[in-house]
Amino acid sequence: MKKSEFEEKLKQTAAAVKDSRVKDAMLYSLMAGGKRIRPMMLYAVTEGYGLPAETADAFACALEMIHTYSLIHDDLPAMDNDDLRRGRLTCHKAFDEATAILAGDGLLTYAFETAVKTAGVSAEQVLEGVRILAGDAGPDGMVLGQCLDMQESVLTDWEALQTIHHHKTGCLLSAPLEIGAVLAGCDAETCGLWRQIGFDIGLAFQLQDDILDVEKTAAELGKSNSDERNEKVTGVSLLGIEKARTLMNQLYDDSFAKIEKIKGFESDALTGLLREVQHRNH
Ligand code: IPE
Ligand code: IPE
Ligand code: MG
Ligand code: MG
Ligand code: MG
Repeated sequence: MKKSEFEEKLKQTAAAVKDSRVKDAMLYSLMAGGKRIRPMMLYAVTEGYGLPAETADAFACALEMIHTYSLIHDDLPAMDNDDLRRGRLTCHKAFDEATAILAGDGLLTYAFETAVKTAGVSAEQVLEGVRILAGDAGPDGMVLGQCLDMQESVLTDWEALQTIHHHKTGCLLSAPLEIGAVLAGCDAETCGLWRQIGFDIGLAFQLQDDILDVEKTAAELGKSNSDERNEKVTGVSLLGIEKARTLMNQLYDDSFAKIEKIKGFESDALTGLLREVQHRNH
């Protein structure tokens, strides 16, 4: 699946919402670009198992909607209080806070309305995908991570920070891999293996995000780099930048080795995609 083709599907899916100010805000943030890593990971798994791309379309759109909602809310004044996202003003700056909150709510709920339209697999598989998505997005998943992230003033050790990263970032990177495995009809053990690989990639991804936050400018990143202003405890502040970088690369490389060993899976597209993520500079 090409990123541009996915973006066309995403746009068409969101275009079906009734016209309103909240729809404008949803589309403003959703179609502002972004790496689209989560949907691309899902397509790479289903395609690596030989499924047609259409099977993954609905969950791919749903993942990107939920991720975009998490960014809109993450940027709010009550959270990270940021002005720039995906090269544009953040949603609450371009619209207003109430509309940004509602745009997040709209994307979250519309994601599930979209996901249940998955065709080409059994109803049980769709239900299991929805269960995974809800669990990873909700109060045992990303929402828990964001909650812990906001309470981090008491956080001092790497163990505790890993728990935050696991939830706030790992869950939404694990979901595409596990959902892909479910859509492909993998057994429970293999689905569990994909889930674990997703968490390792999630930890690597958040370490990388923390590194980029100190090394790059907001203009380079297309988003505010606010960790220092917000006095965030990060992988960089706890481990130091070189140790954080070494661990990040180790996690990515170990994940690639695990992916390449999965039976019946053609891994080139997925490892190629993740290698690009590993070596990105914004
Ligand atoms: C940013 O996610 C938030 C984190 C989980 C670190 P991405 O880096 O995937 O953001 P976009 O989608 O490319 O804008
Ligand atoms: C947020 O982590 C992860 C989310 C669940 C949105 P950050 O706060 O570090 O993400 P950025 O740097 O603003 O993208
Ligand atoms: Mg944050
Ligand atoms: Mg943030
Ligand atoms: Mg960050």
